[in-house]
Amino acid sequence: MSYKFITFEASDDGIALVTVNRPEKLNALNAAVMGELDDAFRRVETDPAVRGLILTGAGDKAFVAGADIGELPIGHALAAREMSLRGLAVLRRLERMGKPSLAAINGYALGGGLELALCCTLRVASANAKLALPEIKLGIMPGYGGTQRLPRLVGRGRALEMLLTGSLIDAAEAERMGLVNHVVLQTELLNFSRALLRRIFENAPLAVASVLEAVDASLNAGIEEGLRFESAMFGTLAATEDAVEGTRAFLEKRKPLFKGK
Ligand code: COA
Repeated sequence: MSYKFITFEASDDGIALVTVNRPEKLNALNAAVMGELDDAFRRVETDPAVRGLILTGAGDKAFVAGADIGELPIGHALAAREMSLRGLAVLRRLERMGKPSLAAINGYALGGGLELALCCTLRVASANAKLALPEIKLGIMPGYGGTQRLPRLVGRGRALEMLLTGSLIDAAEAERMGLVNHVVLQTELLNFSRALLRRIFENAPLAVASVLEAVDASLNAGIEEGLRFESAMFGTLAATEDAVEGTRAFLEKRKPLFKGK
């Protein structure tokens, strides 16, 4: 698939940099962008040379300023529900790729933009970033998972304040509430994000994938079921060659050489 609204750059370190590239509309998500993102997430999931994803927005003003307001099917309940379901599937693919992803939030992350970032494994914001779920100000509500993922990340009270006021929060406040993992200067954003992903890449790929899967399972399982799932994954991982290598390397005081087996 050739892209018109996003760019996809794979580099030797295993990182795919996907940039939403519609800066004149603050990278708002129209149907074409969503289709291209879906294809890009599929590529990341299936290409063994890609080990992780950085998602960002073009320009220095916005990550993604939300769903394209001009395309919202206002007045049409079924079409709006369809749009929400299609978007949810794309975002769920990102969340379930089995590889770490990082939202490099370089400006406004609003509505669907913040919901996209919420599906990433990690979020790093530049100091000028502003985040919000402003749908309520338009007389609607989030439709790409915001009411479900935000309270799980920052807690019910903080999430409800953002959801019900629609107010913008700045990067420092987002970091305080755990909505973003780190805040850095805009000029440092991509380098910092790459370095953070590379720290994950140093670890055994099967262990990384298993942690992602176990944490994802915690979203829809009760504590008992979730803990049993974790034990099962722990048992499987303990039997891998990389687990033998990782523990032996520690005891032999050397760096492990992981093979993903
Ligand atoms: N959908 C469609 N177009 C959008 C958009 C969105 N979510 N967000 C911004 N744009 C467009 C603007 O319409 C404008 O287009 P134009 O130049 O053709 O008029 C362009 O992007 C630049 O935005 P502008 O509003 O002029 O920039 P600003 O710096 O004055 O304000 C924001 C920035 C982010 C505060 C403002 O654009 C905004 O509130 N956007 C909507 C955010 C939102 O409600 N998102 C949730 C949608 S469900």
